[in-house]
Amino acid sequence: MNEEIHDEGAWTPLVRAKGVFKRFSSKAETLEVLRGVGFEIPRKRTCSIIGASGSGKSTLLALMGGLERIDSGILEIGTYKLHELREKDLPQYRSRFVGFVFQFHYLLKDFTALENVALPAFMTGLSKKESWEKAQTLLEKVGLGDRMGHFPSELSGGERQRTAIARAIVNDPSLVLADEPTGNLDQVNARSIAELLLELPHITGATVVLATHDSNFASQADLRFSLADGRIATL
Ligand SMILES: Nc1ncnc2c1ncn2[C@@H]1O[C@H](COP(=O)(O)OP(=O)(O)OP(=O)(O)O)[C@@H](O)[C@H]1O
Ligand SMILES: [Mg+2]
Repeated sequence: MNEEIHDEGAWTPLVRAKGVFKRFSSKAETLEVLRGVGFEIPRKRTCSIIGASGSGKSTLLALMGGLERIDSGILEIGTYKLHELREKDLPQYRSRFVGFVFQFHYLLKDFTALENVALPAFMTGLSKKESWEKAQTLLEKVGLGDRMGHFPSELSGGERQRTAIARAIVNDPSLVLADEPTGNLDQVNARSIAELLLELPHITGATVVLATHDSNFASQADLRFSLADGRIATL
């Protein structure tokens, strides 16, 4: 459990955004992707973001994950004020607070499922024994107890995505950001990965924010947002 959860009351929202603007500028033009976006996401809940391609879903997740900076407005996540945080402090925010799941799994091909999950824990200072044990427990929790020694090439698409989810939660992030996590999967695997992500708050206590084109998946989240024309609406 993260210390941030104890610092702030469990009743305060985990994510608070107010008047968030995000622009991408090139020589030819400035594209205003987010135009004054405001919302709150409570702790230990699931939240979905839908919207047409190019509406800014990935951009919004990247801002919450500290991969991109907002241009103006307020973005507070836990005790972190991302609008004020110095560039050099962002990696620490990301590694302590956030777990990422993407459409493509980005598992290391020369490492087993167990090693892929254990490595981020080991890199943040856990002993080898603790890291490997934690990875084992998590892989069992995501239903891969009998696949731990397999390399990514020996896993199915759904199993790879389960491994990626176990890796995303190994350092106990308060926030899990999932960008089209079922985008590459067939219907059956997509449904079971969706179920796993929707269950995560009960398994780890994390808040899950997911961007998806799957309206059925999105509709099952506790909180549902839609992005269009740079604005956010609650569904
Ligand atoms: N680094 C960047 N530089 C310039 N423009 C960008 C950058 N990242 C995103 N954009 C633009 O911002 C807009 C929003 O992109 P974003 O990837 O957030 O959309 P999305 O809703 O995730 O779309 P999709 O459903 O296709 O994944 C798009 O028009 C995109 O081209
Ligand atoms: Mg996207």
